Amino acid sequence: MTGSDAAAPVLSEVDSDTFTLEVTARRLVGCDIVVLELASPDGTALPPWQPGAHLEVNLPAVDGDVMLRQYSLCGDPLQADVYRIAVLALADGRGGSSYILDNVHPGTTVRVRGPRNHFPLEDAPSYAFVAGGIGITPILAMARATAAAGKPWKAVYLARDSQRLAFGDELMALGPDATMWTDEEHGRFDLAGFVDDLPAGTHLYACGPGPMLDALEALHSPDSTWQLHLERFAAITVDTSCDVPFEVVVKSSGTSLTVPPDCSILSVLRKHGIQMEYSCSEGVCGTCETDVLEGIPDHRDAVLSPEEQEANETMMVCVSRARTPRLVLDI
Ligand code: FES
Repeated sequence: MTGSDAAAPVLSEVDSDTFTLEVTARRLVGCDIVVLELASPDGTALPPWQPGAHLEVNLPAVDGDVMLRQYSLCGDPLQADVYRIAVLALADGRGGSSYILDNVHPGTTVRVRGPRNHFPLEDAPSYAFVAGGIGITPILAMARATAAAGKPWKAVYLARDSQRLAFGDELMALGPDATMWTDEEHGRFDLAGFVDDLPAGTHLYACGPGPMLDALEALHSPDSTWQLHLERFAAITVDTSCDVPFEVVVKSSGTSLTVPPDCSILSVLRKHGIQMEYSCSEGVCGTCETDVLEGIPDHRDAVLSPEEQEANETMMVCVSRARTPRLVLDI
């Protein structure tokens, strides 16, 4: 999820499984990143989390609604009484980061939900990490856990300039296997060279701007001896010009609904009074993941891995559609 709020719209409903945290510290890192520490107001331990997890933060929107924003946890999972998130100040963001910059200070309370993890660190003999900009947030927690476990790893942290290497000191403190690289100082990083000598069985985790992740995807093939895991914070662009209607069946009631070409499954379900958990509506947060009982989805999300998409057991109903005339969903 990182700390970017570029792909998160407003939601008018707030789930009941949220809880309150208080901001205990705030600092500006680099030129455009605000790091927040959050703790329970009564000092109790927080729900545990694993590297790759994110926290969903509810923020007030101008029109009285609630903005839901997902931020990767970038602290230490062993520290049970505090969460740390980093928020990127985006000039073209949709309000979440600017709200935090202007209104969230030590003592402020916020409603949150989670942590949830759609980017888990799988067991592997060795690891490689590629972080671009604010994409360092999940990667930092992963690299820290890998280093602590004594597994072989290497990491590169890419940014336009050194002002944007917000957690460079923390990453470098993990050992000599971490590299910081700025376009300004060194020019474009050689991703092909980085993946070229990965030991067989390595799992590579990457988070950052779309072009960086696309480049890694292009370097990976079914014959690769390493596995690729990506976390995107922007929706995938899809050609929708050939979209056709299809039928969705709600398993619990047997209700059959038609999803027109210009509507999402999520919007059709909601229009018919079927309550679904959702947040980003762009296929990047994983909140609307739904089990598929029959039919083959046309996956358009940035959450499920290629293997998960191929399994067709779940789908993100906010963006994905159907390859078959009918889908039966476990709702
Ligand atoms: S609501 Fe975020 S993936 Fe569907």
